[in-house]
Amino acid sequence: MSEIINGKNMVLSTCYYPEHWPETMWREDLQRMLGVGIEVVRIAEFAWNKIEPHEGKFTYEFFDRFLDVAEEEGMKVIFCTPTATPPAWLTHKYPEVLNANIDGVLYRHGARRHYNYNSPVYQELSARITEKSAAHYGPRKCVIGWQIDNELNCETNIFYSMSDSIAFRKFLQEKYGSLDELNRAWGTNFWNQTYTDWEEVFVPQTTLSDSTNPHRVLDFTRFISASARGFAKLQSDILRKYLKSGDFVTTNGLFGNLDNHKMTEESLDFITYDSYPNFAFGLDMFQEGPGELKDRKWSRNLTEARSISANFGIMEQQSGANGWNTRMEAPTPRPGQMSLWTLQSIAHGADFVSYFRWRTCIMGTEIYWHGILDYSSRENRRIREVGDIHKKVKQLTEVAGAKYAAKVAVLKDYDNIWDANLDVWHGRVEQASQKALFTAAQLSHTPLDYVYLTETLTAEDLAQYTVVFYPHPTIMTAERAALLETYVAAGGQLVFGCRSAYKDISGLCVMEDLPGQIAKLTGTDIPEFSFIAPDAGRVTVDWDGTELEANVFTDLLDASGEGAKLEAVYSSDYYAGSGALVSNALGQGKAWYYGSAFNVDSARVFLEKLGVASPYGDWITLPATCELAVRAKDGVSYLFVLNYEKTAAEIELKQAGVNLYTGQKVSGKLQLGAYETIVIKML
Ligand code: GAL
Repeated sequence: MSEIINGKNMVLSTCYYPEHWPETMWREDLQRMLGVGIEVVRIAEFAWNKIEPHEGKFTYEFFDRFLDVAEEEGMKVIFCTPTATPPAWLTHKYPEVLNANIDGVLYRHGARRHYNYNSPVYQELSARITEKSAAHYGPRKCVIGWQIDNELNCETNIFYSMSDSIAFRKFLQEKYGSLDELNRAWGTNFWNQTYTDWEEVFVPQTTLSDSTNPHRVLDFTRFISASARGFAKLQSDILRKYLKSGDFVTTNGLFGNLDNHKMTEESLDFITYDSYPNFAFGLDMFQEGPGELKDRKWSRNLTEARSISANFGIMEQQSGANGWNTRMEAPTPRPGQMSLWTLQSIAHGADFVSYFRWRTCIMGTEIYWHGILDYSSRENRRIREVGDIHKKVKQLTEVAGAKYAAKVAVLKDYDNIWDANLDVWHGRVEQASQKALFTAAQLSHTPLDYVYLTETLTAEDLAQYTVVFYPHPTIMTAERAALLETYVAAGGQLVFGCRSAYKDISGLCVMEDLPGQIAKLTGTDIPEFSFIAPDAGRVTVDWDGTELEANVFTDLLDASGEGAKLEAVYSSDYYAGSGALVSNALGQGKAWYYGSAFNVDSARVFLEKLGVASPYGDWITLPATCELAVRAKDGVSYLFVLNYEKTAAEIELKQAGVNLYTGQKVSGKLQLGAYETIVIKML
């Protein structure tokens, strides 16, 4: 059994950098960590030089000395492979390992993640440092698991080195077999882009007028994902040769252009996420408008992590102010916010939380990315808060392994996520609906899962959800449509939004009447469509007397076929009277096609009309400003209530439960102070 994510323990940890501090500080640091309940440290992810200071010269003493201290003190260690930061000797001697910008200019030494995944030299040297580290440090008793690299695809998730072009050709040759097939899939008859020799094919480089071939960019994205996965697998295969019983392999972060689900399936025991909700209060990066979810929006990322590993870890959890010396300024967490954000992670299924970082770095670009301690080691408010968090988390031991309980899901797939990134028409509806559905579910206290339509997903997997939203799958295949039909026929309710199913797997538009592959499933025909013109004003929809506002786009719909029914019509502009929503009864269930993108209000109406809003209303009432999350295990439900506000909130428990922090029975009206949380075991 692994030491973390084992269904038995909730574990706190911190990220520690022995190479940043005099060795004389190590022991006291570890003792202080243990004193506030930190049982694990993550180390070494940027420390290649400490193990291979010169090419082929391996020296293990530095981390051996640290691991000796860890073992003496009883601290457990997650050891990392150091491939996120190639040493200067390496990039100087082998510049081909460097990534490049779109113009082919190499990213030079001085930051991190400046390598590319496809350089044969980098693969060889990465494999060697991984093997040497695993063989030497893996047997150590205190080492409980491994992190591969650090945040794959962070900093940049596009790759333009020559190694990438060469590997891209190979990827395409394997995928398409012939140039004729490649030319067909990429629609190269358009603007005379036909390839006549594989040597003419490169990763998409600088072109005129922001114009790209979208089919090529889609394949480029798939290629980047495959490259990152291959790099993770290269390391995982090596690490696994040296694991002791119970040791695990993970990596941290969720970044773009990477199929994190497949990577986890191929190479990891579980995913860990890095959670920095304080960005919501930052100066430059993530400015929010009024009515936004702010730090609560990080629950969306946690929902993503949970879609990969039902119980996951947080490898980096915010513990201080954010900031590089160049950007990303965000303030120190207010008293209570560290606890709130830790509990936010746990509420969504994290059974392991590691704070970034123990002490704030005194050098380099991250001097403002504060850890638990500031530059000095003096006792402070944040370390006291960690101690308090530990006391609470200890009381939650029985929740370990409990799964987040949702009956509503949003279905996603990587083809459509990546298509939405490269296609503004798709991107606008996707962004609007994803945000609206998540927000509406949050505000109405409707637990929501993300489910990914991967090669391994089955209709039975979907059957645990009463309602599934698949907002805008512009790319659709016959196999996916068949799986969705099986889900609906067996009793599911499936809701599509506008623009569904007008592209094939290459992103080429289909010539059938829309919505193409799902016309039969949805009983819908779309004779006309347009995005909502800026001068159109408010476009309304009448759904049996309930008014919705259409958002971004309008598909004008007809109901077609036996089970199909026109449920709502547009009620303004030239669309007035045209169909806006069609339902189609099929077997035991129903498919719905809504001709627009969602906004928070229309998403809420869908949740209500389909009977899935606020499923825990009989147990608890709480203000919209608090989040409700529910985890369940062995028939027992645990309610997490999180107050994100700086003012108190009142909740009412309509059935008795046990406040797990105190062990006391609670019911009726309860006050939650600023940023306060409560976890209630329902009786
Ligand atoms: C994460 C990264 C850490 C540290 C932190 C603060 O993305 O994994 O190494 O850089 O951000 O910038």
